[in-house]
Amino acid sequence: MMPSLSLSAAIARVARVAKTGRGRTGARRASFASLLPAGGALWRSLTMLLLLLWPTLTLADIHPRDTLSPAADSADISAWFFWLYLWLDVVIFAIVAAGFFFGIHRFRKRPGQNDDPAMDLHGNAKLEIIWTVIPTAIILVLSVITVGGVFQISADPDREQRIIEIDVIGKQWWWEYDYKGYNFSTASEMHVEEDTQVLLHVRSADVIHSFWVPRITGKRDATPGRDYPMTFRPFNVGGEVKEFVGQCAELCGASHARMGLKLFVHPKDGPNSFEVWAKQQQDKAREPVSELEQKGKQVFTTKGCVACHSVRGVAELTQRSQSTGPDLTHVGARTSIAANVLPNSVENLAKWVKNPQSIKEAALMTNLNLSDEDSLAVATYLYSLK
Ligand code: CUA
Repeated sequence: MMPSLSLSAAIARVARVAKTGRGRTGARRASFASLLPAGGALWRSLTMLLLLLWPTLTLADIHPRDTLSPAADSADISAWFFWLYLWLDVVIFAIVAAGFFFGIHRFRKRPGQNDDPAMDLHGNAKLEIIWTVIPTAIILVLSVITVGGVFQISADPDREQRIIEIDVIGKQWWWEYDYKGYNFSTASEMHVEEDTQVLLHVRSADVIHSFWVPRITGKRDATPGRDYPMTFRPFNVGGEVKEFVGQCAELCGASHARMGLKLFVHPKDGPNSFEVWAKQQQDKAREPVSELEQKGKQVFTTKGCVACHSVRGVAELTQRSQSTGPDLTHVGARTSIAANVLPNSVENLAKWVKNPQSIKEAALMTNLNLSDEDSLAVATYLYSLK
């Protein structure tokens, strides 16, 4: 009879063994084997294999943080090495396992055989040389290829070609992006262009963070007093803006887990192009129109927000420092706030300005004790800053 391979049956069996200490066979001691379907070794092996492959099989759709679905050259190289090593290991495992099973089958003791001791291979120089030389050769070849890959990933960008250069500054708990040569700064949502070199200068204003967008690149530490370069070239996006999610990957304090980021890759041409976006970012802030927006601007400029935030054309900080909060000139155009913790909306902005710490533990943004009306007005004004 074909044993059941369903997950619910397996769970039921685990529960039964946990409760009674007995597997299907009635054995008193619950061993891992008793959790598997009864039947031959083949069925047990197949079940084991299925259980091991389960996480992979359920990833039929591309996971947003899947390092094996690369969307830029850098992540592509890393993924290539992952598959190279995986398949090489599969082949080596298969050869070793085949030799092992061949050995125990071919040289097993047969009925009527005498009790001679097994053949002693100790001191067989030929064999020992073979099983030393082969692994050494494999490791040497892999080392050379791997070091080549490391150099490829960390190569300087080609200065003859176009480069989008961005200072990335990790701060508790958000990311500041200063676009070199464009004269604007944005927060936590980075925009770049397809098939164009991107050069990041990853830094930190306080503690160690780590910039990571799994489908684009590996991780790069943001360390105080250091400037760690990182380069990548995003793949083509076929005319549409594509979104990739990232995350701070270094424990950096109470809200480390709420230090997310997004990366948008724009097409080269058309209304969705990077240059159209960058041009819009360079504009000064839009003037408030409605009464509520006007009130919001007034609250923004008089209740303390401008001590840390710039809005170009309204209030500009002359010096950016560790305590400086994000530039909000076009904050309404962002898709998320608080470093990808909440989707951007008037409602969420109001909640955030009213009590930042309720959304992000230990957030460094001051709670100004704004009234509900003032919070809503500021949120309405900020959301209008497209
Ligand atoms: Cu920044 Cu973790």
